[in-house]
Amino acid sequence: MTTAHTSGGLPGQLSHSLVSQRARSIDASGIRKVFDLAAKMKDPINLSIGQPDFPVPQSMKDAAKAAIDADRNAYTVTQGIPELIDACWKHLAKDVGWDGPGDHRSLIITSGTSGSLVLAAMALLDPGDEIVIPDPYFVMYAQLGKMTGGTVVCCDTYPDFRMTAERVERCITPRTKAVLACSPSNPCGTVLSGAEQRDLVDLCARKGVLLISDEIYDEFCFSDAREDGRCPSPARYSDQCLLIRGFGKTYGCTGWRMGYVAGPRAIVQEIAKFQQYTYVCAPSMAQWGVLPSFGVDLAPMVTEYERRRQMVVDAFAGVTELARPSGAFYAFVKVPERLGLTGHQFVERAIDRRVLAIPGGVFSRRDTHFRLSFATKPSVLAEGLGILRDLMVTG
Ligand SMILES: Cc1ncc(COP(=O)(O)O)c(C=O)c1O
Repeated sequence: MTTAHTSGGLPGQLSHSLVSQRARSIDASGIRKVFDLAAKMKDPINLSIGQPDFPVPQSMKDAAKAAIDADRNAYTVTQGIPELIDACWKHLAKDVGWDGPGDHRSLIITSGTSGSLVLAAMALLDPGDEIVIPDPYFVMYAQLGKMTGGTVVCCDTYPDFRMTAERVERCITPRTKAVLACSPSNPCGTVLSGAEQRDLVDLCARKGVLLISDEIYDEFCFSDAREDGRCPSPARYSDQCLLIRGFGKTYGCTGWRMGYVAGPRAIVQEIAKFQQYTYVCAPSMAQWGVLPSFGVDLAPMVTEYERRRQMVVDAFAGVTELARPSGAFYAFVKVPERLGLTGHQFVERAIDRRVLAIPGGVFSRRDTHFRLSFATKPSVLAEGLGILRDLMVTG
């Protein structure tokens, strides 16, 4: 006898009734609508892509292929291969001065930066606990509460998109467990200065909350925001923050699903426990693949993105407000108020003219802006920017 399960699924109504409240509370329609529209577009000028437009460095491709050929295809230990953990520590020692695990620090390789974020939220948040995130936010941040039982509190950073200690302090309550900062930011490209980072560190220490720093775009920090040649990080002022970094955006290997998280051992150990029972480990061949990454010179790519950033700034000069991006490869552009359009409505008009961007409402409680990515060929970017500017001028 076959049951509903073994005969290939449940009738629609029944299966819908089995879906958890948690799943129901998550609405994926905003971004899905944009992708649906994109799928219907012929020959789009796509300014919505959130990954670098250069190929993965050859040394990394070779290392991944060699790992597969050498039969390094099995599970690794939960924390990640010791060779990669060691390379990450050496990089952090140079970059932020955290010289190895010491007595109280730890580091784990995760399945993407997303893996670090979700597992950190699981390790920290009980029902009713709060985590402060910036608004505008990376889309996943807004769901971290629903996924883990905690509550997300949005810190409004309009109009300059700086998540300053002053703005964050207003969001902290006795239930706050963590503050999640993202610099360079998705979707705004904002980079906090060292002084702003230090103020956040001091605030979090004073309030007894954990500062989580998502630095997935740390290598894409432009000359106007670099300090001592580096991207500012709160980790330079404290080793009590949770530092999350990734490889996907940096080296164009987003599909390899590689990230890492370092910080207070007591918290990283809990993250490791959740990894053991969820993802088990980051992909084995990708762990070997990213091993040579710290030797890759990214300067030519960063210079190129800095040049494209200037194209974006120049395109909108005099027609709308733009908080000049200083990192990542995004700009969060205001729809001129005189047009009387929401971000979604403006993007619909842009799509009618073949330009694909993402409405600000996908990343924010407000829908007054749109995000564009300049990780695309300069000729395509120039054409798209011309059309967007024209739409702003002529309506
Ligand atoms: C700010 C930010 N954090 C985390 C992620 C997730 O990155 P990953 O692909 O490494 O999971 C992204 C991806 O777009 C992002 O923009």
